[in-house]
Amino acid sequence: MTTTENPTHQSYSADDGSNADFDFRSYANDPDRITDFSRSNTEVNSLISVVEDNADAIFTWRYDKGERAKLDKLYEKAKTSQWNGQTDLDWSIDVDPYAVLSPSDPNEVAYFAENPRSPLHKLNEAEWAEVGVESMNWSLSQFMHGEQGALLCTAKIVETVPWIDAKYYAATQVVDEARHVEVFAQYLEQKLGGIKYPVNTHLESLLEDILEDSRWDMTYLGMQIMVEGLALAAFGFMHQTTEEPLLKKLLRYVMSDEARHVAFGVLSLQEVYQELSVAELRDRQEFAFEAALRMRDRFMRQEVWERMGVPVKDMVKFTLEMPEELKIFQKLLFSKIVPNCKKLGLLDAGDGWLRDRFTDIGVIEFENWVDTGEEYADFDVVAKDRELAEG
Ligand SMILES: [Fe+2]
Ligand SMILES: [Fe+2]
Repeated sequence: MTTTENPTHQSYSADDGSNADFDFRSYANDPDRITDFSRSNTEVNSLISVVEDNADAIFTWRYDKGERAKLDKLYEKAKTSQWNGQTDLDWSIDVDPYAVLSPSDPNEVAYFAENPRSPLHKLNEAEWAEVGVESMNWSLSQFMHGEQGALLCTAKIVETVPWIDAKYYAATQVVDEARHVEVFAQYLEQKLGGIKYPVNTHLESLLEDILEDSRWDMTYLGMQIMVEGLALAAFGFMHQTTEEPLLKKLLRYVMSDEARHVAFGVLSLQEVYQELSVAELRDRQEFAFEAALRMRDRFMRQEVWERMGVPVKDMVKFTLEMPEELKIFQKLLFSKIVPNCKKLGLLDAGDGWLRDRFTDIGVIEFENWVDTGEEYADFDVVAKDRELAEG
């Protein structure tokens, strides 16, 4: 194995530059790789962590607002779609952590509860309830940590992108992400007994790679397309399934911002990728695949199993063996990422390397779902509320 121009992410190339013999399917589904990587964070008690940012801060002296009309439209939209987590959400709502839980897919529950080989086979009813409460705290903790990643990444984009329309828009996203971190932290602290989980190792290493990369388009690809694309799908799933009114409204507000954020990535990268060579695109394809894999791995809830005394590696193995037809949630996470990668030309660039990888991990079926380049208007809850109020 050799490393390519990017020092931070995994390279799959053999020394002769080919990767024809590399078994991606086994690599993706290797429980040793997944759990080795998920060893508990050793720095849980440290209050800060430092990442080296290798990118240049760029001034532009071209102030032509609207030169990139679609980004300008997005910026104008962002300015009128602001909300305030302190006044627009009703924090007086009483939340019972056991009642917050979204109903799980009964077939998936049966898979874990009824199979004698399942590490969860012997759990009693109280322990199942505990799994639910822990998983909820874990999910929202990871969302919150991811939101802080987005806050740092968009601050970086303000510095590194050379276009004035993009700097303007990214500045609004910085405010959005601050709000997102704020409301998730507040919900955990006030309603779920505090933040119990540090950032998952897979998520943390992905956020670090995105922030360390010197190329400004990689921040967009890693954050706007991959992390936020997955977040939009995951928030949507939780929003649909939870009945708890405060969380439901909180997620709805966050999603209306996230749809704009993903659109920002798609609209910006479309322009950039038209200029890149096949080799440069290949590097983006590999980055996208590695990011997809780490995000899938992070959803295996390793920290929850560890906290509950369930053998982590057995749990990962059993999760990976789940029949395809039961992996509904796992697959839906990719329902925004795959069509957006397709719209950017990344699926089929070169020899279609990313199409093959998404096929390996069983998510290629989403390629023709709606992409997020134009979808953000449908998500805009602030504009919709205003229309309602104005009759
Ligand atoms: Fe966010
Ligand atoms: Fe975002």
